Amino acid sequence: MNTPKRYLITSALPYANGPKHIGHLAGAYLPADIYVRYLRAQKRDVVFVCGSDEHGAAITMQAMKEKTTPKAIVDKYHALLESNMKDLGISFDIYHRTSSPIHHETAQEFFNTLNDKGDLIIKESEQYFDEEAQTFLADRYIMGTCPICSYEKAFGDQCEKCGTSLSPEQLVNPKSTLSGQTPSKKKTSHWYLPLDQHESFLREWILENHKNDWKSNVLGQCKSWIDAGLQPRAVTRDLDWGVKVPGEAGAGKVLYVWFDAPIGYISATKQWALDHQKDWRPYWEDKDTKLVHFIGKDNIVFHCIIFPVMLKLHGNILPENVPSNEFMNLEGDKMSTSRGWSIEMDEYITDFVKKENGGDMMVDALRYYLTAIAPETKDSEFTWKGFQDALNSELVAVFGNFVNRTFVLMHKLCMGKVPPLHVDLLDGTDHKIIQDIKHAKTSVEQHIENYKYRDALFETIDLARKGNKYMQDKQPWIVAKQVDENGVVTPEAQCNIDNALHICLQLTANLTILINPFLPLTANKLCHMMKVVDKLLDWENAGRLNLLSVGYALRAPELLFRKMEDSEVEMQVQKLKLKSEKLMENTPVTNEPAKAAAPLKPEIQFDDFAKIDLKTGTIISAEKVEKADKLLKLEVDLGTEKRTIVSGIAMHHQPENIIGQKVVVVTNLAPRKMRGIESNGMILMAEDADGKLVFVNSDVANGSNVS
Ligand code: MF3
Ligand code: ZN
Repeated sequence: MNTPKRYLITSALPYANGPKHIGHLAGAYLPADIYVRYLRAQKRDVVFVCGSDEHGAAITMQAMKEKTTPKAIVDKYHALLESNMKDLGISFDIYHRTSSPIHHETAQEFFNTLNDKGDLIIKESEQYFDEEAQTFLADRYIMGTCPICSYEKAFGDQCEKCGTSLSPEQLVNPKSTLSGQTPSKKKTSHWYLPLDQHESFLREWILENHKNDWKSNVLGQCKSWIDAGLQPRAVTRDLDWGVKVPGEAGAGKVLYVWFDAPIGYISATKQWALDHQKDWRPYWEDKDTKLVHFIGKDNIVFHCIIFPVMLKLHGNILPENVPSNEFMNLEGDKMSTSRGWSIEMDEYITDFVKKENGGDMMVDALRYYLTAIAPETKDSEFTWKGFQDALNSELVAVFGNFVNRTFVLMHKLCMGKVPPLHVDLLDGTDHKIIQDIKHAKTSVEQHIENYKYRDALFETIDLARKGNKYMQDKQPWIVAKQVDENGVVTPEAQCNIDNALHICLQLTANLTILINPFLPLTANKLCHMMKVVDKLLDWENAGRLNLLSVGYALRAPELLFRKMEDSEVEMQVQKLKLKSEKLMENTPVTNEPAKAAAPLKPEIQFDDFAKIDLKTGTIISAEKVEKADKLLKLEVDLGTEKRTIVSGIAMHHQPENIIGQKVVVVTNLAPRKMRGIESNGMILMAEDADGKLVFVNSDVANGSNVS
């Protein structure tokens, strides 16, 4: 496709049934946002739509769980998701909702159009019925044993253990999830989308036309679906929460959630157009629009097979691409909100973004790490240690360091202004970095156009790395030592300093443009430091070496990123464990896909143990550590000496309640700084059944050895 006239970019509509975790963010929202920010910088006509998916059993079952109405559930979680996405810099043009009237109308019109054209078929069949609850049981309302993997808690639409998509009839030993009863069977009529009639279209469109540009994981799933033989798929349900099926025959029925939800992309576009006095039609009808759906891998069949058939029948354009990501695991296990093994977006925002000054740094830090480990081609893994490493050794030590050195030296050696460039004095090292700057633009651009955001980000960081190397080669701070008898830098030395810093500043401006789609808050901060307006961020400016004018005075450097401390890593890992243990305790033990038990630590020898010096002591003072929710600063009397120990127990104990408490202390642990306080040792605690850290009581003299 040549440059299209306009772009319509979508991210999968999250169910408004609870908070969403950072795996969702990495899968469908962040990559789309990067792409859209890039397209905007390219001055393309682009609309980025998303919204809450507010129908389906996901919602009604959550309402039962929270003992409230589906309406109350969607109102609550829609608001939460909308604000979370905003806080993490996801720049939707509209975040809509499928409970809105405009969506209901749009979905009904869509259904009517297909129905009137004879594209849907009506079939009567016997379906499971719960006599007690007086309802038909489809999808998640029915559970049973998976015919494929024998997992006993498979749902009527899918087995979550092996991933197979199912129909209720396939379940062995089916039970109603409402009453727990074995259901009876009752006749009912439904509308079906006869996918089998569209096999040759799908084969050609996906497996031929897109065989080279769609990702192989996406093509693979499509192929296996098509090869397995496509079946007519019911698009209505006997339920009352959802979009009502229009017409008399539809009484008591709603559209299947997967029929109405993707139409949500269209209704969101309509609402956006209304809000901005635009015409929505070209975005869905003109062939010169590039439609791209960003999704997670569990949504592939809906976006590549079912919705395209609907779009084709309705006379809409088809997606150009459906870049779907694999899953992101967390600390060695599958991410799951229900099992508590997850980092919710909301949780991250509370712990890092809304916490302290400079929380915006932590928005970009998360965006950075999630992009760097994006599960683009295979499942990947988030670890807090990995996050810390990426932040400390790449963002802080490479990117932040380069910018900071450049600004500090420019203020020190060039009077705070962009120094001139002395072209006649440029050497090979200068020419090389100039080439690197130009080249970075092209390669970042190509990666982004091909949905390879990890590679695009690496190229950008690599340019900063080259900047550091260049600075190291040029050493303007050493050159500045070439002074005349009056202590003034010699003219030739000053020219060399000017050249080095001129180039480093132009490089900084380039980095700002290239990093902007990924780390927009950082790019804004850089613009502020360089005293330039947003216009600089236009993509066409990348690769240029005249972005900052000679003689222009720049501001002082600001801190772009902060390091993540070991204590933060430990606390988050601890928190994750506690959260999942708590949840699992309150959940009756079922055949849930097993979460691996925390592994025992590897065996150690007696000598290893003997190296640890344990002594008893008494806490003589305790106070909260500023800006750290979980830390207490303790003074512990060990009999012969007093020690300062920083301990992560603030969530478990009030400082005033633990004064006088006896503790066992590891006294020969290497000192460590936490929040600027040096901690000299560690106190040992026990964890009770509720995950609370408690003291192990003893009553011996301070300083006694523990063995
Ligand atoms: N709510 C679905 C999910 O979370 C995704 C819906 S995407 C849409 O898996 F296309 F249907 F909107
Ligand atoms: Zn299964």
